[in-house]
Amino acid sequence: MPVIETRGLRKSYGGLQALKGVTLTVERGQIYGLLGQNGAGKTTLIKILLGITKLTDGDARLLDAPAGTAAVRARVGYLPEDHQFPGYHSGYSLMDFYGQLYGVSRDDRRRKIPATLELVGIAGRMHSKIKTYSKGMKQRLGIAQALLHDPDVIFLDEPTDGVDPVGRKEIRALMAALKEKGHTIFLNSHLLGEVELICDRVAILQRGELVREGTTAELTAQKGVFEIGLAPGQTFPEAAAKALGYAVRPLNPAATLWEAGLGDGQSIDPLVRSLVEKGLSLRHLVEKKVTLEDVFMSVVEGAEPGTDRRDRKATAVGGGNR
Ligand SMILES: Nc1ncnc2c1ncn2[C@@H]1O[C@H](COP(=O)(O)OP(=O)(O)O)[C@@H](O)[C@H]1O
Ligand SMILES: [Mg+2]
Repeated sequence: MPVIETRGLRKSYGGLQALKGVTLTVERGQIYGLLGQNGAGKTTLIKILLGITKLTDGDARLLDAPAGTAAVRARVGYLPEDHQFPGYHSGYSLMDFYGQLYGVSRDDRRRKIPATLELVGIAGRMHSKIKTYSKGMKQRLGIAQALLHDPDVIFLDEPTDGVDPVGRKEIRALMAALKEKGHTIFLNSHLLGEVELICDRVAILQRGELVREGTTAELTAQKGVFEIGLAPGQTFPEAAAKALGYAVRPLNPAATLWEAGLGDGQSIDPLVRSLVEKGLSLRHLVEKKVTLEDVFMSVVEGAEPGTDRRDRKATAVGGGNR
């Protein structure tokens, strides 16, 4: 049974279509990353799943219940985007407050609050006021708050926003540890590297539409492009390679490094054999990989972060220009 399931999910705010028919499935134990520029609709999707916002059309299910079902919310943890915890609380007192809201017993709170703060790495400061915390510490506290009642699913909306690189790395490690413990994590982020490093599956949302979905490996699978280098002084046989059907071009002005693109169903082997037969020495052969950022840029080209997203052309699903 999937943990999260949406089908043809739509949300309009007046005339603005924030979600235009989003279908996705998240299985238990996954870290699922929803990627997209500001305004793409990521936060709206989480809010619908949690019942904070009502959907306009389509279906959204969480833990096998319609989105927003009260009983299910007790099994869910949520780190909202841009949260502001009252600065007069200490980390501990804030956790105690949320624990009461979640219905965690006094004994459990006494036991779990220090343990959870330990897990996120701020136990040493748990009795200091939140107003003295750094942004990274506040994010960790926010994650701790989302974990206190041991939820099945954790929604993290931009968990590393405003956190320095070291803090980001630690938060990623924390997410990996939570996954190990069997939690399902749904992560919203506009930070590509972030998502690539931690997520099992990724969806790219653009102006309310899912334009890509799959495992990171699937999305970044190389498209049959190789880098080739010969021994110093040797000349790459451009004409022969073209005659074999490869799309080749030099990668540097000295033409010591070449790129060979494969046609459909073509392998690199005939080219390698041909080089060897010509008495040339292969010194470098690397299959090029596409990064998630390449994929992202190819689908969001022309879209600028933070700009108003009035629709121009419809985006071809599964299209792209690579
Ligand atoms: N409560 C709201 N009322 C009107 N428009 C909204 C509201 N919440 C979000 N929007 C609009 O919906 C779109 C998607 O927003 P959001 O889900 O916050 O995107 P993201 O989280 O990907 O940055 C944006 O254009 C935003 O301005
Ligand atoms: Mg958002």
